[in-house]
Amino acid sequence: MPVMKKKFSAFVPLSALAVMLLSACNNGNPIASKEEKKVPEHVNFTEHVAPILYDNCTVCHRPNGGAHFAFITYQDAKQYAGSMAFVTKERMMPPWPADPHYTEFKGQRVLSQYEIDVLAQWAKEGAPEGPKDKMPALPKYPSSLAGAPDMVIPVTPYFMKAFSSDKFLLVKVPYQLPADTFASLIEFVPGRNNVVHHVNGDMVKYEFNKKSDVFAGERIISMVEDTAGIVKAFQKLGLPNDDGSYPVLQKSVVNYLPGAIGQIYPQGIGGYILPRKGAFLFNDIHYGFTGKNDITDTSYINIFFTKVPPNRPVQEFQLGTLGAVPVEPDMIILPNTVKNVFSRMVITKDISVLTINPHMHLLGKSFKAYALKPNGDTIRLISIPRWDFNWQYFYTFKKMVKIPAGSTIVAEGVYDNTKANLNNPFSPPQVITDQNGSMKATDEMFQFIVTYLPYKEGDEKLSLE
Ligand code: HEC
Repeated sequence: MPVMKKKFSAFVPLSALAVMLLSACNNGNPIASKEEKKVPEHVNFTEHVAPILYDNCTVCHRPNGGAHFAFITYQDAKQYAGSMAFVTKERMMPPWPADPHYTEFKGQRVLSQYEIDVLAQWAKEGAPEGPKDKMPALPKYPSSLAGAPDMVIPVTPYFMKAFSSDKFLLVKVPYQLPADTFASLIEFVPGRNNVVHHVNGDMVKYEFNKKSDVFAGERIISMVEDTAGIVKAFQKLGLPNDDGSYPVLQKSVVNYLPGAIGQIYPQGIGGYILPRKGAFLFNDIHYGFTGKNDITDTSYINIFFTKVPPNRPVQEFQLGTLGAVPVEPDMIILPNTVKNVFSRMVITKDISVLTINPHMHLLGKSFKAYALKPNGDTIRLISIPRWDFNWQYFYTFKKMVKIPAGSTIVAEGVYDNTKANLNNPFSPPQVITDQNGSMKATDEMFQFIVTYLPYKEGDEKLSLE
């Protein structure tokens, strides 16, 4: 099979940009540290259930968490006992589509069998409360992970009517600084947690004398329909330089999913250079269901400065739709078929992989990626047996994964374009393609994004947690 080489660069020109629809990040508490305990004969909320919920659920299931209902108090939680037992047994909650038996990631949220059994037992016993004085301390959820930011940039407020759902927006957040500035962390903080579903943000880096006014142009536009529309959309947002050329775009500098934390790497890894004139480009922000009230979301971006220049800036490449190597055989998915595709890329120098992001839309059924070493060994990267459009994390490894030069990275996807796929946006099923990188959720994509560093001795021993 033909294999193309890839130019290694973290920066893509904006004009060549694949506007990606959905992406994600990482979060919470590792499976490995959980020991298997025996479920007591009788369980209750305060002693047995609350600790599980506080560890695994309330990061989203709390007032202004990512979900619409809270599990903080006994009163809140008891009515959900039956559905909690069901969704945890089916491993639908907590949402973590990656198979933890294939590879483990930083902050993965996966229940142990003990925890699942306790929730089942609690529902079976009629959700008893237990001794009030045994209630564990309420968990704390600071809005920022890194303390007080040096700069806060508000995102233009966005209004949504009651009962509206699924808005995909392109949003520009411009800024100007007195000088080019180093930053260690860029954090997206949602205003209305239960409607901001996911956010994928890039940084637009202007050369100072090429752009007179970064604030010109629109701030928010609705997702356009096709790639011809993207160019128009970028013009509406006022993204091009004064002479019409495009500035450099650094991808995926700020991502967000409910319950996920910002991409913090250990000292010496990552970091950003904010140019004097720049903008964050959210392509996109996905707002979910509003519920019964009108909502105005005012999210913001926290930026933490540092004196240290990024000495090992994170780099990125991408396989598949609009990536360095194509999707094979093609992305034409005929109605009433299940289609397998793949994308392969040879790595020409040793790399240390930090984070990976598989990406498909609604017809996605499963996803798998691994690397084949020159000696034939396999390095596992990720397996998602049951694709979930709503939970597309940027998965960060616990330790960097070394992939030696000469290896081939393989990503494999399966798409289900039959009626059996409950997420199929069309009934009856239609011919679906990737439309050269359309942004519509109803078109398809197959992408595998890898962020990495050029390999350095000892990288694979360095903890990213
Ligand atoms: C990363 C965020 C997140 C975490 C962690 C999480 N949930 Fe959820 N959960 C959601 C969202 C979002 C929904 C969808 C409904 C909504 O928007 O409120 C949901 C839905 C549910 C539902 C309703 C399912 C249905 O369709 O009826 C239950 C029950 C549930 N979660 C239980 C749990 C339990 C128990 C845990 C912990 C073991 C947990 N969740 C952890 C985000 C989360």
